[in-house]
Amino acid sequence: MSVPSDKLPRHVAVIMDGNGRWAQHRGEARGFGHRAGVEAARGLMKAAAEYGIEVLTVYAFSQENWQRPGAEVALLMQLFSRALDREVAELHANNLRLRFIGDRSRFEGALTRAMGRAEALTAGNTGMTILIAIGYSGQWELVQAAERCRLAGTPVTVSALAAQLETAGLPDVDLLIRSGGEHRISNFLLWQSAYAELYFTDQLWPDFNREAFDAALHWYAARERRFGGLATPGDSTT
Ligand code: IPE
Ligand code: IPE
Ligand code: MG
Repeated sequence: MSVPSDKLPRHVAVIMDGNGRWAQHRGEARGFGHRAGVEAARGLMKAAAEYGIEVLTVYAFSQENWQRPGAEVALLMQLFSRALDREVAELHANNLRLRFIGDRSRFEGALTRAMGRAEALTAGNTGMTILIAIGYSGQWELVQAAERCRLAGTPVTVSALAAQLETAGLPDVDLLIRSGGEHRISNFLLWQSAYAELYFTDQLWPDFNREAFDAALHWYAARERRFGGLATPGDSTT
C-alpha cells in the first residue's frame, strides 16, 4: 500500500525498544535480541529510503543505557562497531548520509574514529540522512546548546538554540515511533519532537518489519496536524 508523497513525514524518529524481551520470550539471552534488532534497523533504513523519507533518526543507545551491566554495554558497542564496518560502504553506495548524535566522549577511540570516517565519507551524499542517536540524551543536547549560546554571547531564542542542536538545519520530527509497548520518550529528541505525531506499538523491535513501518506511515497520513491552529482556518465560530 502506498502513501501519497504529500502525506509522508519528512523526519521519522524511532525508539527501537524491546530487544531484550524479544530474546527472553525465546528463552535466549538479551544479546540475541540486540543482534536481531540490528537486522530490523537495517530493514527500516532500506524501507525509509525507498519511501523517500528525508531524515531518519534511530535511537540506538541512550546516555541512561550506560547504567546497564558492563557486559551488555560492551556487546552493544561491539554490535554497533561491526554494523558500522559492514554497512557503511553500502549506505554510501546508496547515496545516504550518515551522522551520529550524542556524547562521544565515553566511546573507545577506534569507534569514535570509525564514526568520524563514516560521516566524512557520506557527508556529500544527497539521499536520506540517517541520524544514529548513540550516547544520546535530549537533556544533554539542550544543555549543550544553551551553553554554546552562552559562550558565544548569543541571546537564547528559539532559533538561536535550534541552531546549536545536533540536528541544526534538519526538519523537526514529524513522526515519532516507539516499539516495545512503553508510552514514553526516554529522553529522546525532546526539542525536535515538540509537534511530532506519536506512534506507539506493542511490537518488540526485532519484529518491526516493513509491514509495521507501512502501518505507522498510514496512521501518520491520516493525522490532522494543527500546530495549535485550527483545522479549517476559514471556519469561524465567532
Ligand atoms: C532496546 O531494547 C535497545 C536498547 C536500549 C539498546 P532493550 O534492550 O531496551 O529491550 P527491552 O526493553 O529490555 O526488552
Ligand atoms: C530507550 O529504551 C532507549 C533506546 C531504545 C536506545 P530503554 O529501554 O532504554 O528505555 P526505558 O528504560 O524503557 O525508558
Ligand atoms: Mg527497553
